[in-house]
Amino acid sequence: AAIEKGGYDHFMLKEIFEQPQTIFDCLRGRLDAEQGHVVLSGIQKYATQISEAHRIIIIACGTSWHAGLLAEYIIEELCRIPVEVEYASEFRYRNPIVHKGDVIMAISQSGETADTLVAIEKAKEQGAIILGIVNVVGSSIARLSHTGVYTHAGPEIGVASTKAFTAQLAVIMMIALVIGKEKGTLSHDKYLQLIRELAEVPEKVKLILQQNDSIKALAEKYKDATDALYLGRGYNFPIALEGALKLKEISYIHAEGYPAAEMKHGPIALVTETLPVVFVATKDSYHEKVISNMQEIKARKGKIIAIITEGDLVSPTLADDVVILPPADEIIAPLLSTIPMQLLAYHIGVAKGYDVDKPRNLAKSVTVE
Ligand code: G6P
Repeated sequence: AAIEKGGYDHFMLKEIFEQPQTIFDCLRGRLDAEQGHVVLSGIQKYATQISEAHRIIIIACGTSWHAGLLAEYIIEELCRIPVEVEYASEFRYRNPIVHKGDVIMAISQSGETADTLVAIEKAKEQGAIILGIVNVVGSSIARLSHTGVYTHAGPEIGVASTKAFTAQLAVIMMIALVIGKEKGTLSHDKYLQLIRELAEVPEKVKLILQQNDSIKALAEKYKDATDALYLGRGYNFPIALEGALKLKEISYIHAEGYPAAEMKHGPIALVTETLPVVFVATKDSYHEKVISNMQEIKARKGKIIAIITEGDLVSPTLADDVVILPPADEIIAPLLSTIPMQLLAYHIGVAKGYDVDKPRNLAKSVTVE
C-alpha cells in the first residue's frame, strides 16, 4: 500500500498533489494554446444541437453537484443558455419536466451513482440528449450517454473527491468554450484568452501546492474548531460549498458553505471569536462586495481565513490568515481556489487522527439509493 501511495501518507494527499498532472492530462489533446482552439471529439457531433438547446439541466450528487453548480455560472455567462442544476435524488422522484432536445448534463466521477443513473434514464426516455462528464471509462453513466467527455483523472481512491473534481471543472470550462464559440456568444478574444489561461492552470496549481506547509500550520491552528463557515460569491460560491463539504467529510467538523451575501440571513448569528470563516476572496468582479462581507465578519470578531489573489493589499488587513493564489481570470480561478480548501481539510483530518482516505459512513460510490 505504501508503494501505491507513491510516498505520500494517504491517497488523498497523493491525489491532491497529482492535480497538476491530472488537469494537464484532461486538457491534453483537446486544448491547444498555441493554435488557439479547443476540440472535444466526444461532443463534436452534438455541438450544434447543444448550442441550440433551450436549456441545459445538470444532474449530479455530492462533489459532482458542486461542479455542476459552477457549470451553471460558466455556461450561462459564456453560452447564454439557461441552466438548471439538480440533485439527482430529487429530480428523479418529482415527475420532472423534460422537453425533447433538452440537454441533460450528467456529472459523475464513478459513472455508477444510482440516483444519477436513474435520473438520466428517465430524462432519456423523455427525449433529452444526455451529455456525460464521467471519469470511469465504460461506466454505466458513460454507456447511457449519447455524447460526453471523459475527465481522465485516473483512478481516485480517496473517498472524498479531489482530483476528479478539478478534472470535472476543466472539462466544464472546455465544454463552455466549445459551445460558446459554436453559438457565437463568446468573443474570439475571450475564447483565446481563456484557452491560454486554462493551459497555465497546471503550473499555477504547482505553485499553490508549494504552500502545503503553511496550510498545514493553519490546520494546526484551527483544528479544534467545532464549526466553520465557508463563504464565496459568483464563480467562487460553488467552491465555498465544496470547501465546506471537504471539511465535513474528512475532519467531522460541522461546516456550512454559503453565498457570502446570504450569510446575513442566518449564519451571521453564529459568528463569534471561535468561529473560523473561510472566505474565497480572489480578485474578480465580486471582490469589493466580498471585502465588505469580510468586514461584517470581522466586526463580529469571527476568525477570517482568506484565499486571495497575489497583489491584494486589502484582504490581509481584514483576515487573520491568508493563502495567496496566482492571478487568473475569474472563470478559471475556481480551479485554483479549490486547492487550498482540499489541503486544509486534509491536514485538519490528519491532525485529528482520522482515517482521511476512508471517512466513517461514507462510500466512494453510492450505488444503492
Ligand atoms: C459519494 C462520494 C463523493 C461523490 C458522490 C458522487 O458521496 O463519496 O465523493 O462526490 O458520491 O459520486 P459520483 O461518482 O457520481 O461523482
